[in-house]
Amino acid sequence: MQPVEIKKNIYWVGAVDWNLRNFHGYSLARQGTTYNAYLVKDEKTALFDSVPATHTEEFLHTLRSIIDPAAIDYLVVNHVEPDHSGALPKLVELVKPEKIFCSPVGKQTLLSHYHREDWPYEVVPSGQTLNLGQRTVHFLETRMLHWPDSMFSFLPEDKLLISSDAFGQNWAASERFDDQVDLGALLDLSANYYANIILPFSPLVQKLLAKIKELGWEIEMIAPDHGFIWRSHAAEIVAKYDQWSRQIPGRKAVIVYDTMWKSTETMAKAIAEGLIKTGISTRIMHLKNAHHSDVMPEIMHAQAVLFGSSTHNNGMLPLVADMLTYMKGLKPQGKIGAVFGSYGWSGEAVKQITEILQSAKVEIVVDGLRVKNVPTVLDLEECMEFGSKVAREIIARVPE
Ligand code: FEO
Repeated sequence: MQPVEIKKNIYWVGAVDWNLRNFHGYSLARQGTTYNAYLVKDEKTALFDSVPATHTEEFLHTLRSIIDPAAIDYLVVNHVEPDHSGALPKLVELVKPEKIFCSPVGKQTLLSHYHREDWPYEVVPSGQTLNLGQRTVHFLETRMLHWPDSMFSFLPEDKLLISSDAFGQNWAASERFDDQVDLGALLDLSANYYANIILPFSPLVQKLLAKIKELGWEIEMIAPDHGFIWRSHAAEIVAKYDQWSRQIPGRKAVIVYDTMWKSTETMAKAIAEGLIKTGISTRIMHLKNAHHSDVMPEIMHAQAVLFGSSTHNNGMLPLVADMLTYMKGLKPQGKIGAVFGSYGWSGEAVKQITEILQSAKVEIVVDGLRVKNVPTVLDLEECMEFGSKVAREIIARVPE
């Protein structure tokens, strides 16, 4: 990839990963991703972040087209996760940096990843600045966004925020800027990224947005470590982060299920009828067709999540267990839930799922519904009423 000048003397120099399809459990089946690094040329030249070890040569090729790595003075590590630091050993060898700037936790994390006591670390806690000549860099620790070591680098003279994982998306593309692609699709992928990466840290997002306001940073451009650079819609993505981190749901329900012989599926559809006729926007997701990371954005926007599973070997179906584990880890807040499923002789799945949802702080608002083998007409009427009951609970909680 060619470098792209994003501000005068500031360049995107990352790598595009067209082939990545699974980022530790997050399916990128549609888009791949980019690893963004930024080179700032000034009296001192600094390189912000890098790429995974797998993309080192491609990255160096891009970098060398505008600078000899040996001419770089400083490396800045905003985030140590290997998708942004894997190239570091090679870079340090070529650049021989005067200093490697990182957060206090960043230094410990770099040491435990690369075991190099001899690198010239310079720890920069929140509030510390770095003078590059015509411009300064202001550092702000952003712990748990997305790791404890994460930090932002803000360049006030350029009104540029280099934001690490925050405000990113996974979308491999030849374009670099938000106004070069469809904004709706970009925000949709940003929501998908938020639901799968940032969601558990939503209270910290609220604090971070308040901190940025308090600091009075005038941000014109946001350059994240994944995806597109926000040069025309920076305010929109910040507003979306404010909205998503508040976790205010819509009048919406998601029915997530797996089924053996379609009885649980038949129940799911009848329950959906009950929800829909009571005025709730409803999404049905069969886990054999929907990856858990595609379900999460739907859950993020919904007030209610309904889980269905046949009972299989005295338990729930494996894809349902997978979905519950994934969802619980992402800690969606303020959800209500309900559980249903068919069974042949023992029927433990409903109880087991209910217990897991309760442990994930999902409020169970209707008693679990089980049907033996194939649902009858009466059973399906009960399923519809089950859906209507959940709908009324949603309506009671979510203003129109
Ligand atoms: Fe893109 Fe937390 O790494």
